[in-house]
Amino acid sequence: MEPVLGEGGYVVPPIEYMKGLRELTADHEILLIADEVQTGFGRTGRWFACEHFQIEPDIIVLAKAIAAGMPLSAIGARRQLMERWQPGAHGTTFGGNPLSASAALASISVIEREGLVENAAAIGTYALERLKALKKDHPAIGDVRGLGLMIGVELVNRDGSPAPELLKRLLEGCLQRGLIIVECGTHKNVARLMPPLIATRQQMERALQIFEEALMASL
Ligand SMILES: Cc1ncc(COP(=O)(O)O)c(C=O)c1O
Repeated sequence: MEPVLGEGGYVVPPIEYMKGLRELTADHEILLIADEVQTGFGRTGRWFACEHFQIEPDIIVLAKAIAAGMPLSAIGARRQLMERWQPGAHGTTFGGNPLSASAALASISVIEREGLVENAAAIGTYALERLKALKKDHPAIGDVRGLGLMIGVELVNRDGSPAPELLKRLLEGCLQRGLIIVECGTHKNVARLMPPLIATRQQMERALQIFEEALMASL
């Protein structure tokens, strides 16, 4: 499972849900696999999203930001579990690509050195507060949610139903003003804010201004 739903709409589960899921899977000896492909490496303001929920999955799968764009993915698990692989059972043509592995080491050291996890937490908290304030003035914003720099803004019609057409106009309006935002959610009505981890407060401020301008223009 994804600790924070990505394509599905940037949904943050309640901590009790995650803890309950960990207990349930442990009780039944089911492996809990955390897909941190989208949430990993600082995106949520922690190295890994599972940390927010104080749970430890049995297996963690990683990709995307692990090597900042170079093709690489990884699987992490306790040694006891990893030792179940027979030697050679997991051979692949591109596995362990040295260039991608070097890019991953370099990315991890930049994230550490430049404090990008902390930056994602700080800028993300600021953006969430600003967007929640915006929601008070705009009934078309049905929900604002997220962790760190993984923020979803759900758009709704007056009756509370999903508003994918409005989102389309909003994203187009943002693009025309120089801000790229993509969509997510099963109804395609959630604006997905996922700026780079190096985003500054000034850049976020400007992005939110554009977002509000474009929202007003698309209502
Ligand atoms: C959470 C999550 N898991 C897995 C994937 C798939 O990764 P891949 O492109 O390596 O198949 C994605 C891709 O967007 C993702 O967001």
